[in-house]
Parts: sequence; C-alpha cells; structure tokens
Amino acid sequence: MGLRSDFIWGAATAAIQIEGAGQEGGRSLSNWDVFSEIPGAIKGGDSPLEGVDHYRRMRSDVMLMKELGIRAYRFSISWPRILPQGTGEVNQDGLRFYNELVDTLLEVGITPYVTLYHWDLPYNLHLQGGFLNPAMPSWMENYAKVVVDALSDRVSNWITLNEPQCFLGLAYKDAVHAPGWRLSDREMALAVHNTLLCHGKILHVIRTFAKTKAKVAFVQATPFTSVPVTEKDIEAARDRQFMLSDSFANSGVLYTDAIYRGKYPDEYLSRYQDILPVITDDDMRLISAPLDYFGLNLYGGDFVQRGVDGKPVVVPRIKGYARTALDWDVRPEIMYWTLKFCYERYRVPILVTENGMSGNDWIHVDGHIHDADRIDFLHRYLKCMRSAVDDGVDIRGYFHWSLFDNFEWSLGFAERFGLVFVDYVTGERTIKDSGYWYRDIVKSNGLSL
Ligand code: NOJ
Repeated sequence: MGLRSDFIWGAATAAIQIEGAGQEGGRSLSNWDVFSEIPGAIKGGDSPLEGVDHYRRMRSDVMLMKELGIRAYRFSISWPRILPQGTGEVNQDGLRFYNELVDTLLEVGITPYVTLYHWDLPYNLHLQGGFLNPAMPSWMENYAKVVVDALSDRVSNWITLNEPQCFLGLAYKDAVHAPGWRLSDREMALAVHNTLLCHGKILHVIRTFAKTKAKVAFVQATPFTSVPVTEKDIEAARDRQFMLSDSFANSGVLYTDAIYRGKYPDEYLSRYQDILPVITDDDMRLISAPLDYFGLNLYGGDFVQRGVDGKPVVVPRIKGYARTALDWDVRPEIMYWTLKFCYERYRVPILVTENGMSGNDWIHVDGHIHDADRIDFLHRYLKCMRSAVDDGVDIRGYFHWSLFDNFEWSLGFAERFGLVFVDYVTGERTIKDSGYWYRDIVKSNGLSL
C-alpha cells in the first residue's frame, strides 16, 4: 500500500532549545532560564540562553531545511518573546521574528507547523504559580489569541501543547525539569486540570479566530510504550500502553483520554476522588472538542508479556542491547505497535510529531559526520511505521526530532539529536550523513525504505 502521496515529511524543534538570543529582541526570562542558574540543575551548568543561535541565523537555517528537502517544519513559539510578562504588552520584535520565519519557510515551499506551548513559560507567570494558578487557562488563551491573530493568515497547522507529562510530571513532581518542584498529588491534580483547560482554550481560540482553515493536534508521548513479545501478549502490551502511572501526571493516557475521549480514566477518577479539583461537564466539553490529528512523540519502548498473575510484565533488557547515546532502547517495533494501539483506541489520524535518537556524533577527519547508527535507527523505525500504514493505521506525517543538535533540557548540550550537527562553540552547522539519507527518503516518499 505505501504512504499517502500527500504524506507530510518534516523535522521539528522547540524555541528554547534552539533560538538563543535569550536577552535580545525584547524577550524576557523564562522558567528554564532561571532554573538553569541553580547549581546542578542542568548537566554541565549549561543554559538555554544562547541556544544554538537560531534567532540570528534564521534565514540560513531555513536554507539548510531546503537543502534537506523537508516539506514541513514544526517549531514552537516562545511565549516570553511574544508577551514578556506573560500577559499585557505584546513585544512587536518577537512577533516580527516569527512572521519572518513563516514568510521565509513559505518562500522555499516548507509548511509551518506551530506549537503554542513547548515548555518555556514567562518567568513572571511562573512566579504567580504557573499551572497551579486558576488564571493560567485565560493567560494561555490570551497568548494564543495574539499568536493566532498574527500568524493564522499563513499558518494552518497548529499544536496546542507538547507532552504535559514532562512539563508537569518531570517538572512539578519529579524536580528534574524547570521549575524543579515536588508537589502533592492534590496540587498535581489541579495542575493537570488547568493544563487540559489550557489545551481547550487554545483550541477554541484557533477554531474561532484562525483566518485560514486550521488543522490542530495535541502532542503526547506514551511513557509506557509497549511491544508484545508474541501474538499471545498483544493484549498485555495494550493494557500496559494505556496504564495510569502511580505518579499520575507522568501518564500519557490521563491526557489523551480526557482530550480524545472526553473523560479522565475511570481509575484516576476513583483512586483520586478525594483530592480532585472541581471538574465540570463544560470543562470536559471544552477539553475534548474535536481535533484533526493525534500527535505522538516516539522514542524507546519495552517488550511486554502477560505475567502469571495476568498483569503485563516488562521483559528485562538483554545484555548488550541496542541503545542510543542517552541509553534509550532502540525499539523500532513501537512504530508499529504504539501507532496501532493509539489509532485503535482514539480513531484520529496520527502525526508522528517527533522521533529520533541522541548519538555520539562528531566531525570525522574527512569533515563529514558519519552517523551510521542514526541512519540504521531511522531505517528500522520508518519501515515499522510503513508496516503500520499497510495494516490500516491512518498516519499522515512524520517529523524527525530534531532538525539541529540542541539544548536537551536538564541534559544541556550533552546530547545530539539533530540531522544537522552544530558546533556548540562557533555555531557552525554541518549536515550529517543521516540528513542526506533522510532527504532521499523524503524524495522517494518512503519508497526507498
Ligand atoms: C520530547 C520533547 O518534546 C523534546 O523537546 C525533547 O528534546 C525530545 N523529546 C528528546 O528528549
């Protein structure tokens, strides 16, 4: 069967991971800038303030995208660049940057996919409690309106929020991401509900005010990504895939069930009934308004089988397992199983909004970056994705994570996820072998896989 002729081939980034110019162009501080000042918070003491200098190199970066032949570019808007205080006065220089980015992309035939919230919160809003503050959904609504008013004459593809299990779970519960909090379950349940309301508000703004017909996704990763060992284990893997984590804000299913099924998982409602905030029918209607895509970020995963007690059991890794530089398993089968499980549960066309790996890449003596591991990784993952399509899973697009090596959150600049190598001292870019390989896959619409 193969991929659709209009399959969307792209690459992705996020504002604070690449832009730099943290104190230029009227941008204010974000939660991550301030978090990175805490000793030990970020590996190597790195700070996102300089990013990989994309703000200054925007035009030549778009030319690199053109050279790579990608058809779509997923990037996020920096809230602190648009509304330095989070609300109130709009920073016209910030809007100008994104206007020029969109225009430059369109000039070279690349379709923009805009993420509204990819984890960088204006510090001023963080100081007021961030996602714990009941005003957060209306702050988000106001910010979304500014962006939609400015860009929606040329942008029609939108992502509301990216991976709340990280910006809440890792951030407000596990103290690994900014702001490094360890909140109670009651506070987390409030933050989760406010976050879902933020999603609903953004979606409502796009549907009401977009000047071109909009397509919208919410993006999630599934922390319990599971691959059945044999056919007998398919249901066990599916059960685990949609399991609620004990640290509930880290679960994927909590958000995707609320958004795509209009209901929090029953287990969540019963187990935490005493600490949940007020959840009204109107809230759930706002949260679960129809979306065009189910956005999924896919990286590693586990082999799973049905245990003797009937519960899913993770098969321990064997010695010498294939792993990325970040020690994540190379598990291409997730591109078949997770996509299939999610499509069967939610029945919404899927966009793979992120997939890729961190590698130990360096410039070889001949001046090139021979990242054979990443090529093999992509080859395996994309073939499994194509098998899912052949089995009837409606997959509309694939975005490689990432376009450039960049700031990998609490791991700083220690990891390299890009198709394009970045010299972190000079900022110089070099397309890796995998970038050229991906260009050929895009050109053949996956036929050469
Ligand atoms: C998910 C996040 O959206 C992205 O920001 C991050 O860099 C990648 N995963 C890799 O960890």
